[in-house]
Amino acid sequence: MKILFIGDIVGSPGRNAVKTLLPKLRERHALNFVIANGENSAGGSGITPKIAGELFDAGVDVITSGDHVWDQKEVMELLANEKRFLRPLNYPAGTPGQGSGIFEVKVGSSRCDDRTAQRAVPTNLLIAVLNVQGRTFMQPPLDNPFTLALEEVKRLRERTKIIFVDFHAEATSEKIAFGRFLDEQVSAVVGTHTHVQTADEQILPHGTAYLTDAGFTGPHDGCLGREIEPVIKRFLTGMPQRFEVAKNRVLLHGAVVEIDDTSGKAIKIQRVSENL
Ligand SMILES: [Fe+2]
Ligand SMILES: [Fe+2]
Repeated sequence: MKILFIGDIVGSPGRNAVKTLLPKLRERHALNFVIANGENSAGGSGITPKIAGELFDAGVDVITSGDHVWDQKEVMELLANEKRFLRPLNYPAGTPGQGSGIFEVKVGSSRCDDRTAQRAVPTNLLIAVLNVQGRTFMQPPLDNPFTLALEEVKRLRERTKIIFVDFHAEATSEKIAFGRFLDEQVSAVVGTHTHVQTADEQILPHGTAYLTDAGFTGPHDGCLGREIEPVIKRFLTGMPQRFEVAKNRVLLHGAVVEIDDTSGKAIKIQRVSENL
């Protein structure tokens, strides 16, 4: 199966990029499933049920998040009621929401037809999606992502070998170590949070697709999706500033991962950077 992962969607420019570009990418790559990090989709900070609905309508199957998950109070409704919305797994026990989910994926493109019974019949496979947050240079300090992810992966593997992980973290060292730690256990580990796409996509020795950071989907003529001037002013003065979402050079960033349906191992990973 082929999965598109979309890096952090920033504000309305990012949402527009998803709405406009996802149908084209779906056709070009023959996608079976789409996962998107939505932690910045509401005006650059957090997510609401209405915005999640927009992304689902645009063709996103599962939305992951990260440290910005709490920025809009309406997120509580999503965490309570929407199984397709994930928050990092390693929040303390009792935190609303879930860090993983198992979803059905349709594979096999041709329809069943009585006269041509030899045609491939679509079958449903299961994919597990897992969202975990790093601890190095990240707030708040969460439980150990390595030990908790491994326990969760063991549980998920009882139902499917196809497991996709969004590791939301800052430090490249923590991200690479995490990918190596889960190599063979999961189909893919793709990083989010830095908003800067890295060029290290690879299949690790035991079959896990890996990319340190998918980048972000939104306006790239700015600082990580925000207007430049207030960010510079903040660095110059140390005073808090209002960071408006930037406007120009909108790109959809992410990666397409092809996974062997039987073994759950990755066959190919390809970075995506698509101009709106
Ligand atoms: Fe983040
Ligand atoms: Fe982000």
